[in-house]
Amino acid sequence: MRKGLANYGDAGFSLFLRKAFIKAMGYSDEALDRPIVGITDTFSGYNACHRNVPDLIEAIKRGVMLAGGLPIPFPIVSIHESFSHPTSMFLRNLMAMDAEELIRGQPMDSVVLIGGCDKTVPALLMAAASVDLPAILEVTGPMITGSWRGERLGACTDCRRFWGMHRAGTVSEAEIAEIGDRLAPGPGTCMVMGTASTMALVGEALGMMLPGGAAIPAVDADRLRHAEATGTEAVRLAREGRPRPREIMTEAAFMNAIRVLQAAGGSTNGVIHLSAIAGRLGIDIDLDAVDRLGRETPVLVDLKPAGQHYMEDLQKAGGLAPILREIESLLELSALSVNGRTLGENIAAAPAAWPQDVVRPRADPIHSGGGIRVLHGNLAPNGALIKQAAASPALLSHAGRAVVFDSLRDLAERIDDPGLDVAADDVLVLRNAGPKGAPGMPESGYLPIPRKLAAEGVKDMVRISDARMSGTAFGTIVLHISPEAAVGGPLALVETGDRIVLDVENGRIDLLVDEAVLAARRAEWKPPPQHPGTDRGYARLYQDEVLQAEDGCDFDFLRLTPRRGARGGA
Ligand code: FES
Repeated sequence: MRKGLANYGDAGFSLFLRKAFIKAMGYSDEALDRPIVGITDTFSGYNACHRNVPDLIEAIKRGVMLAGGLPIPFPIVSIHESFSHPTSMFLRNLMAMDAEELIRGQPMDSVVLIGGCDKTVPALLMAAASVDLPAILEVTGPMITGSWRGERLGACTDCRRFWGMHRAGTVSEAEIAEIGDRLAPGPGTCMVMGTASTMALVGEALGMMLPGGAAIPAVDADRLRHAEATGTEAVRLAREGRPRPREIMTEAAFMNAIRVLQAAGGSTNGVIHLSAIAGRLGIDIDLDAVDRLGRETPVLVDLKPAGQHYMEDLQKAGGLAPILREIESLLELSALSVNGRTLGENIAAAPAAWPQDVVRPRADPIHSGGGIRVLHGNLAPNGALIKQAAASPALLSHAGRAVVFDSLRDLAERIDDPGLDVAADDVLVLRNAGPKGAPGMPESGYLPIPRKLAAEGVKDMVRISDARMSGTAFGTIVLHISPEAAVGGPLALVETGDRIVLDVENGRIDLLVDEAVLAARRAEWKPPPQHPGTDRGYARLYQDEVLQAEDGCDFDFLRLTPRRGARGGA
């Protein structure tokens, strides 16, 4: 109760006042003498992925009290993917700042971070890294699968698949409405290898979660038992004052997290989020290291969108443990976890393996070359990503004519125009959809196949952008092109008709236009007009401070070592 007193100029009075008000909550002196465990309450009526947060809080409180602590939940920002305008990424840093300041500004000896939906786990880990109070992560857990006419459904890979069929005219209006009722059948996060599943696995691999927690479905009783154990562990953290996030989230831990991201065939968003969390700790996630670790780490997890199973199947196969076992020789086993043990000790303590077909042996991977490749080239001087495990193998080496969309609005207005001059072997280009350009770098990199081509049966094309893509999406899609077009990156200079070459094997994305022509276009280039509303408030802060994808789209001043002036447009 003495920590971080409100400043009245008299510490004794500040403590007296604080105790007087906390007494109004009905606590006894005995309760207030116990270690205090804060619990971030991320429930929101808009956030179905966090529908079970009240139950988790009760289980965590039970665990805290069983261990002799005092649990105090407190509300913070809650973000759901489908209820965040202009995009959840725009709000991630707001949630991280909110969590950071409320953890720092209120008296607690440790904190339980309840995350789930895509941006929430990264925001909470960014906050924990900056505050460095003992912290432990609990996730809401994945949804169980739905079903439509005998077919198993998973959000949101199947949302996109069926919507694509609806656009092509093979799924009717009535059918798509029925499917919409069944895609998300209950509480929890998307049950494919999207960003939420990725960040849950990555959070456990980083060491910030009790072992075994990443894949337990939201509705499973084990989820509540894991939450209870998390509460108990939080009391130990409060009493001992360690390990702190900075002792856990070391460079070695981030390397382990990237290995797991690659082995899981995880979301490209995971790279951005890990860069942002690491940046809070003064650790640089080098994209070339991501690429190298990927080439050494095969994709083993057979989950949609790259494979066929769902998160509840991964849990039945043992969760993260079988993945760690398969890549154990590649991991930094001495990395410390929140339970005070090393990663190696946690792997050894995990239940013995049993026969299953969700996590493949290293000798028989889903994809031998890693899930995510990093690309460079004259179109992406600071890098770009492609989720090769979810791409069409035939398009991984491709040259085509650019068809350029200048903005999200331009895309929406023209993509389905029957008069659009486009062919299946063209390269669709979307720009001004990056961190500053959209703003918030929305998940619009999954450009729809033009309706007239979809109707002819075209399922995939090379699509490139400075946007992001949902981890639940699939296709030959180059993302996170940096610097983005809105700050003058080379993507801004592409014109319809230019030739673009994608060469994933050699890690290249290039524009085949003479340098003299590009120089002339660069001289003519003007930045896009400011977005309405960016003259004030959080939108202005975002526009002024957001960094590029390779720096995790964090705000410059929130990094341990600011980047200002270090990087910019081309
Ligand atoms: Fe929340 Fe997918 S919408 S995890």
